[in-house]
Amino acid sequence: MKRFENKAAVITGAARGIGFEIAANFASEGASTAIADIDASGAVNAAAEIEKTFKTSCIGMAADISNAADCEKLVEAVRQKFGRIDILVNNAGLTKDGLLIRMSENDWDRVLGVNLKGAFFMSKLVSKLMLKQRCGRIINITSVTGQMGNAGQANYSASKAGLIGLTKSMAREFASRQVLVNAVAPGFIATKMTEALPEEAKTRLLEMIPLGKFGDPSDVAKLVLFLASDEASYITGQVIGVNGGMYM
Ligand SMILES: NC(=O)c1ccc[n+]([C@@H]2O[C@H](COP(=O)([O-])OP(=O)(O)OC[C@H]3O[C@@H](n4cnc5c(N)ncnc54)[C@H](O)[C@@H]3O)[C@@H](O)[C@H]2O)c1
Repeated sequence: MKRFENKAAVITGAARGIGFEIAANFASEGASTAIADIDASGAVNAAAEIEKTFKTSCIGMAADISNAADCEKLVEAVRQKFGRIDILVNNAGLTKDGLLIRMSENDWDRVLGVNLKGAFFMSKLVSKLMLKQRCGRIINITSVTGQMGNAGQANYSASKAGLIGLTKSMAREFASRQVLVNAVAPGFIATKMTEALPEEAKTRLLEMIPLGKFGDPSDVAKLVLFLASDEASYITGQVIGVNGGMYM
């Protein structure tokens, strides 16, 4: 029997990058998965690829998780399809970088709206099901920048630090019903999000990483799967770094 057989997982922002890797890893271990992404065709294509590769049920849905109505539709569709939701991974995120003195209100609101408020909407809806089930796992993808800050990313770092507070508060609220909530804080992982960085920024970043290399999406996915598994049943309210030692 595979580790996540008979379990249903929802992963936001999973059309590509870290989210896709997480969804594929869950599927490879037998879970039914739902991929939600603002990129509608990306979500549908990713789901088709996962179904074909792992022969498990996977649905791809368009959703802007900063929009409450989209989140409601998404959660209802997944509940109807799979009958339950055991695992929620709040992974969708974006950056709109710039120095604070030049940061627009729009760039502040968009980043906080997706990275933090989106996780609030999704967690609120899904936790209702999990609390009734008396089991569930919520895993929030935060960032090393939420722990140590980063010049040029005040909005992003604030959203990711906010996710850590949200994680710990939910962990305390839901623990008595066996709904466990943790955060995973990646450092620098090679994806489309980080591809755009100028070469000199990448070189500077590498110097800050004791392990001397960037991480791979699978490094993050493996930790997420562990936190969602039975082996992690005494872990809640934690923030676990996957950062090559960049922050200790
Ligand atoms: N790559 C890194 O180095 C790194 C480091 C720390 C944290 N993270 C976090 O990991 C998560 C995944 O990052 P990634 O590197 O795979 O990025 P990515 O840009 O490759 O993927 C992000 C996905 O989220 C989707 N998305 C964006 N806005 C959305 C919205 N409003 N609703 C639904 N989906 C939306 C995008 O369409 C995309 O598919 C993010 O939360 C990011 O902040 C990444």
